[in-house]
Amino acid sequence: MTTLTLDVRDVSKRFGEGDTTVAAVRGVSLAVEAGEVVLIMGPSGSGKTTLLSMMGALLKPTTGSIHLDGAELSALSEGRLPDIRLRRFGFIFQDFNLLSALTVRENVALVAELAGLRTRAARDKATALLTELGLGGRLDFLPEKLSGGEKQRVAIARALINDPTLILADEPTANLDSKIGHEIMRLLRGIAKEQGRSVVIVSHDQRIRDIADRVLWLDDGAFKDIVTMATDPVCEMAVDRERAVSAERDGETHYFCSRGCRDEYLGENGNGPRGWLHLATAHLSRNARRHSGHRGDQRRTAAQVERDETAKHGR
Ligand SMILES: Nc1ncnc2c1ncn2[C@@H]1O[C@H](COP(=O)(O)OP(=O)(O)OP(=O)(O)O)[C@@H](O)[C@H]1O
Ligand SMILES: [Mg+2]
Repeated sequence: MTTLTLDVRDVSKRFGEGDTTVAAVRGVSLAVEAGEVVLIMGPSGSGKTTLLSMMGALLKPTTGSIHLDGAELSALSEGRLPDIRLRRFGFIFQDFNLLSALTVRENVALVAELAGLRTRAARDKATALLTELGLGGRLDFLPEKLSGGEKQRVAIARALINDPTLILADEPTANLDSKIGHEIMRLLRGIAKEQGRSVVIVSHDQRIRDIADRVLWLDDGAFKDIVTMATDPVCEMAVDRERAVSAERDGETHYFCSRGCRDEYLGENGNGPRGWLHLATAHLSRNARRHSGHRGDQRRTAAQVERDETAKHGR
C-alpha cells in the first residue's frame, strides 16, 4: 500500500469580490505519495504560487480541502498553523530568503531552535546537514559571500532541518544558471528519495523535468492533461498540442510555439538571412527564459506570452 502525504481535493481560490474577482485556482485535485517528487509547470499567472501557498498552509482555499498525512489543514485553527509550517513543511524560494545578518550556520540553526531544539543541538544539526550539502567550508560565511548555488543549498538545508514531511519549492532555479540549477534539483531529489520526503516544485524551468517523478501542467488555474503538451524541438518550450503550430516529418507530428520555430525545424528559410535571424532569436529567447526567471511583478497572461512569442518569431 502506498502512503499519501498530501491530498488536495477539488481546491479553488478566488481573490477579490464582484467584478474584480480572480479565479486563481479552479477545482484542482492532486495526491502526492511519500518520497514522490512532483513538478508543476505552467505559464506565468496560471496559479502555481497560489496553489503551492495553499499546500503549505500559507493561504486558505476558498473551497475544497487539503490533507497532510491524513489531517485536514484547512480545519486547523490559525493559532496552530505557524507550528505546523515550521515542523511539517520545508519552503524553498526563488530568491533564497536568507537572513543577511546571520551566518550560513545560524540561518539554518535558527529554524531548528524555533522548533524547540537547544542552541548547541541546533548548531550541531545545522553543521551536519550543511556539510552533507557540501557547505562544510562555508559555515561561518555571511550569505552575501556565497554564490547563488551555495545560497540555494543553504535554503535547502534550512528547509530540511526540522525533518519536514513535505518540501515546497517555488521557482527554485530561477536565479541560478542552468547547470547549477539542475545539479541542485538533483541533490534535492536524492535527499527526498533517501529520506522518504515528498517534494512539490512549481517552475517554468523545462530543464528540471527529468528530476521529477511526475510533471503536471497548470493552465488558467486548472490542471491540463499533460498528454496534450509537447516540447517544441527548436526552442524547448512546452506547447499545447491543441493550439500549437504543427508539422509532419518522417511520419511523425511535431509541435512548435510559432511558425518561426516550425520553419527553422523544417529547414525553410534555413539558409537565408531570416533563417539565421530566427535561429538567433530562438537561442536568445531560450536563454532569456533560462536566466531571467519570472518574477511576480513581471506576470504575463497566457495570451500576452503568446503575443510576445508571436511577435518575436514572426508567426
Ligand atoms: N493576493 C492576490 N490578490 C489578487 N489576485 C492575486 C493574488 N495573488 C495572485 N493573484 C492572481 O492570481 C493569478 C495566479 O497568480 P499566481 O501568482 O498563483 O501565478 P503563478 O503561476 O505563480 O505566476 P508566476 O509564474 O508569474 O509566478 C494571477 O492572475 C494573479 O494576478
Ligand atoms: Mg509564481
